[in-house]
Amino acid sequence: MITIQVLTRDGADVSVQGEEGTSLMEALRDGGIDELLAQCGGQCSCATCHVVVDPAFASNLPSMSDDEDDLLDSSDHRQPTSRLSCQIPVTPELNGIRVAVAAEG
Ligand code: FES
Repeated sequence: MITIQVLTRDGADVSVQGEEGTSLMEALRDGGIDELLAQCGGQCSCATCHVVVDPAFASNLPSMSDDEDDLLDSSDHRQPTSRLSCQIPVTPELNGIRVAVAAEG
């Protein structure tokens, strides 16, 4: 299992476990991070799975598709290391990663 540290919107620091072969979004939802709505179920069409990745881990992630980039542009809260968590596969390289749930909208 891969350990993921999550900063929730209310400032709680939560540790969740992710299984290889799932997405970061699924790991967060399965870990009880309900504020991550993931409304489209991982189809890269809603942006409600937006997280901001600790810059120290950003280079461990796969590059983003044009669709992900466009969707993130629709958020008022995009930051340089913003990602859609449904587009990030859980891999051993993610172990110990820190992400923050982005503000809504
Ligand atoms: S869950 Fe909808 S874009 Fe990620």
